[in-house]
Amino acid sequence: MSACFWVFTTLYLYTSNASPITGISSSKTIESLATNQQLYDGETLVSPDQRFELGFFCPSNPCKDVKFLGIWYKNIAPTTVVWVANRKRPIRRTSSGVHLMLDDYGVFVIQDGSKRVIWRSPPKNYSPSVGRKPVLQLLQSGNLVVRDCDINLSCGGYIWESFNHPSDTLLPGMELSLDYGSRLRYRAITSWRKKDDPSDGDFKFGFDRSVQAPQLVLTKENGVRLSRWGPWDGQKFSGMNSLMDNPILSPTLRFDDDQVSLKFEALNQSILLRLVLSPLGSLQFLWWKSKNEGWITILTLNKDNCDRIGSCGPYGICYSDDPSCRCLEEGFMAISSVDWCGFECSSGCKRKNDLNCTAGDGFLKYEQMKLPDNSSVWGALSINECENKCAKECSCMGYTSLNMYGNGSIICVVWLNDLIDLRTVHGGGNDIYIRMSHIELGIHLLTNLF
Ligand SMILES: *[C@@H]1O[C@H](CO)[C@@H](O)[C@H](O)[C@H]1NC(C)=O
Ligand SMILES: *[C@@H]1O[C@H](CO)[C@@H](O)[C@H](O)[C@H]1NC(C)=O
Ligand SMILES: *[C@@H]1O[C@H](CO)[C@@H](O)[C@H](O)[C@H]1NC(C)=O
Ligand SMILES: *[C@@H]1O[C@H](CO)[C@@H](O)[C@H](O)[C@H]1NC(C)=O
Ligand SMILES: *[C@@H]1O[C@H](CO)[C@@H](O)[C@H](O)[C@H]1NC(C)=O
Repeated sequence: MSACFWVFTTLYLYTSNASPITGISSSKTIESLATNQQLYDGETLVSPDQRFELGFFCPSNPCKDVKFLGIWYKNIAPTTVVWVANRKRPIRRTSSGVHLMLDDYGVFVIQDGSKRVIWRSPPKNYSPSVGRKPVLQLLQSGNLVVRDCDINLSCGGYIWESFNHPSDTLLPGMELSLDYGSRLRYRAITSWRKKDDPSDGDFKFGFDRSVQAPQLVLTKENGVRLSRWGPWDGQKFSGMNSLMDNPILSPTLRFDDDQVSLKFEALNQSILLRLVLSPLGSLQFLWWKSKNEGWITILTLNKDNCDRIGSCGPYGICYSDDPSCRCLEEGFMAISSVDWCGFECSSGCKRKNDLNCTAGDGFLKYEQMKLPDNSSVWGALSINECENKCAKECSCMGYTSLNMYGNGSIICVVWLNDLIDLRTVHGGGNDIYIRMSHIELGIHLLTNLF
């Protein structure tokens, strides 16, 4: 009988004297929420290190008609929200007695004073065993978790975690992921609709489900692809060296079975860092410098015209120093020679000499390139096997070898269509072998013969 007696209220509820965030006045803060407690509008759940706080907030100031349940940094003004629970189901400001509660099955529910449910987290296929109950906690990382705990708050694994349901922000330790098996299990970030409206906006950033070698893609509504990083070569997303060569954060890509996931860590744990996708589709790493300086942009990942997928068309190369397009150095010429790229750049380039696959084409090596879009993966093959296989497949326009999994296995990556979205990236690119007519390669063949 005594095992079922719950004492969380007295043990874990205390009044905070910390100063409230501008626009949000918390009357009371708690460290965990048990099934017999409620978190009312105005109260907050805080992480043990006081870095993050969960509560009800108004996205607009002054507060207009709706409220949301979310997580923000506790001691930063103006309020910076990093996660929102009920993006699709806002709380009318006129609702009274709004509170959060956790049921016996680990589902947490936002309801009003008359117990009308406004939003609930998805069911979790959990029922507690004797002497155990679910508890809601906000961890130091900013991850909101439902855990299975005993009476002494000794807790087991996570029944649910907010890190698996990202909003518009990726915090250190949080993952973007894709399961190549189902392609449905997918974790991406989605922009807010407007600065003062956290409902789902038009922009999404996550792994690219339409290609085989892992790359990340920014899309807008209807899945139109705007900008991409990648493919991953074991160390970096091809062309994205800025993500590697900076003193503030480090990315990690992980492969397990069919799943690939990416997270980043702050190199100094005590700094505040976030990757956020703005309502206008800008993707930025921000760093909290100080009260006076606020959030500093340390990286903008889609900043110029060259970051737009295919901005120079097939076989075109984009140059961002002098925003313009040129054709691949050898064997290609602009399709529309009239003022190419003065007005419309995406028409791209064509071959000076046609390919003749049956007679036998060759390959020319280009170095330091951002690898093209729409890759296919042909598995572990030596570079020679990869070339031979690509040569026999007439639609194969290029190939390369990548230590994609970072474990030494050399993976053959090929492109079975015209090559699009190429760039020259000194220090951050990769080699690619591009199919060429043997007429173009004549000179190279001759050198090989003698
Ligand atoms: C809880 O802690 C008390 C005192 O330390 C201990 O006697 C009791 O066995 C613990 N209960 C459980 C379920 O671990
Ligand atoms: C980490 O950041 C904190 C706060 O900015 C600073 O005081 C500390 O010296 C840094 N530590 C390292 C190892 O750079
Ligand atoms: C391809 O090369 C073969 C052999 O040299 C030749 O017979 C054929 O006409 C060529 N095809 C084209 C489309 O040029
Ligand atoms: C991507 O490549 C596949 C073949 O691997 C092709 O069927 C598809 O049309 C290509 N998509 C684009 C947008 O080029
Ligand atoms: C490298 O990782 C891939 C994917 O997990 C796996 O298929 C492959 O066998 C691994 N290679 C080695 C040499 O361990």
